[in-house]
Amino acid sequence: MAESMQGLKRSHRCGELSNKNIGQPVTVMGWVQKSRNKGGIIFVDLRDRSGILQVIFEEADCGAECFAKAEKLRSEYVAAIEGTVEARRGAVNENLKTGDIEIRATNMRILSEAETPPFPIEENSKTKEEIRLKYRYLDLRRPDLQKNIYMRSQVATLARQFMAKEGFIEIETPILQKSTPEGARDYLVPSRIHPGKFYALPQSPQLFKQLLMCSGFDRYFQIARCFRDEDLRADRQPEFTQMDMEFSFVDQEEVMDVNERLLQYLFKEVLDVDVALPIQRMCWKEAMERFGSDKPDLRFGMELTNVTEVVKNCGFGVFKGAIDNGGSVRGINAKGQGQMPRKKIDALVDYAKGYGAKGLAYAAIQEDGTIKSSFAKFMTEEEMSALVEAMEGEPGDLLLFAADRDKIVFSVLGALRLLLAEQMNLLDKNEYRFVWITEFPLLEWSDEENRYMAMHHPFTMPYEEDIPLLDTDPGKVRAKAYDIVLNGNEIGGGSIRIHQDDIQEKMFEVLGFTKEQAHEQFGFLLDAFRYGVPPHAGLAYGLDRLVMLMAKEDSIRDVIAFPKVKDASCLMTSAPESVDPKQLEELEISIEKH
Ligand code: AMO
Ligand code: AMP
Repeated sequence: MAESMQGLKRSHRCGELSNKNIGQPVTVMGWVQKSRNKGGIIFVDLRDRSGILQVIFEEADCGAECFAKAEKLRSEYVAAIEGTVEARRGAVNENLKTGDIEIRATNMRILSEAETPPFPIEENSKTKEEIRLKYRYLDLRRPDLQKNIYMRSQVATLARQFMAKEGFIEIETPILQKSTPEGARDYLVPSRIHPGKFYALPQSPQLFKQLLMCSGFDRYFQIARCFRDEDLRADRQPEFTQMDMEFSFVDQEEVMDVNERLLQYLFKEVLDVDVALPIQRMCWKEAMERFGSDKPDLRFGMELTNVTEVVKNCGFGVFKGAIDNGGSVRGINAKGQGQMPRKKIDALVDYAKGYGAKGLAYAAIQEDGTIKSSFAKFMTEEEMSALVEAMEGEPGDLLLFAADRDKIVFSVLGALRLLLAEQMNLLDKNEYRFVWITEFPLLEWSDEENRYMAMHHPFTMPYEEDIPLLDTDPGKVRAKAYDIVLNGNEIGGGSIRIHQDDIQEKMFEVLGFTKEQAHEQFGFLLDAFRYGVPPHAGLAYGLDRLVMLMAKEDSIRDVIAFPKVKDASCLMTSAPESVDPKQLEELEISIEKH
């Protein structure tokens, strides 16, 4: 039977008490972590968000009625306990913040009874994630998730404070927006008042924050919920949170400067980690060539080596063919992996194929200097030793090669590099390696759409000196876009925006928009620009990703209170769900099954 807390007032959270409070009367409230009845004495671990506290019940202190109640306490019961803080009589528990004290109970109320939870409420849970997500409200009681959610709040609060000090104004932008193309797939919301018409949920506040610059706010900041209907991965959710900002009258340097100091501040305050400034910069081309990725993990080496020149005349048809087709041959050297069993190498080949490789050529240098290789038979000894030398191969090394178009070679070796680093234990979660990636290509060819698409978005400014290339070789135009990368994760990205209408028009032309189409889609922004637009630039972080890395987690689900799973559903509420036919009728929507 549950009792009321009327007349009681909590004096402390459990974890706030220490040996400084010895002798004080206190009232604590929380959940029973566990309770042990030793006959005549009952030990209860009481938990709240601050920690766990040991409480001792003895009839002599609390009376018979209270003692009888204490005997009923089970895990996850909610109790209010009055008592006195004492030095712990038994062994001090080094694992507990409050391990050297205990509360001697004088009174207790059971505020709520609890059924046995479907899994134990404890750190480092072994329970399957599906079960935990179904009972997320219980999962969130676990100390590791509590820590993550608290850290997330801390990051958001500190970011707000920092940005306010730097002169940013927090402004909310609409959630119900007009659908615009050029991004991921939109989530649509039907309009009841305008049957047949739809709002779109924002993929980001991009256009509105640019309009706010036109309105003269100069520096805008928002912690904004964004929605993208894309395939989910460990670092992607259909709804996620951006720390979003836009500046007027700045260049790339100033955007980077504010953000470097923001990151430095967050890491110092939250983790006591010093981020050395300035953060390293690397242009996109260098990142691709050295790491096979536009979000390189710089915590370890294993860089790509371009061996095209070395093998271009060799006897191995796969290599020669790729080069003759305008591609390249590149390799990575997995140091000390020369003894990798054949089965494991085959798994690497399969993994590479998952990234579009037609195959993966390997050469394992044995301790005696002989080479086990999938392609040695096609090479002369001289060709092979030139290749090994180019790769700086030593006895015990495993050399892996991809031959294809650059794009595929980079994606294959970039992915393999990460997989091997994981297998070789080269990734230290306590190390934070930031890098700015700059000079992205402005455009990316889409085979699907058979046209160029904006790599960032259509409002990103090209490098002035590259503008003539828009007519001759659009794929070569560099964008004034920048990503901030941490340990191989893109935690944020942004760009200098186009504010000159002739450049914007040119951009739309290259993207294949007619003037009318551009106006139909982005008319409000183009109109706004006609009334005086400041040069502007911005950036947005994925807050979830940033906190995931700060909390040393592998999935953003672990830093989101109520995340969705891979198929974009919520296991707890079972959203999305069918709706009442009446609701559909109001919206003049009928469902057609295909
Ligand atoms: P972008 O599309 O790069 O830029 O998004 C900014 C950052 O948001 C994070 N992010 C995601 N996080 C979780 N789940 C997702 N589905 C997801 N998609 C993106 C990433 C990314 O770096 N308006 C521009 C920013 C600008 O130009 O100012 C934008 O949205 O960490
Ligand atoms: P094959 O002649 O097809 O047996 O290939 C010989 C070796 O080259 C095998 O180890 C293949 O996995 C590898 N290979 C095939 N295509 C490629 C490619 N595009 N890049 C690198 N290696 C490849």
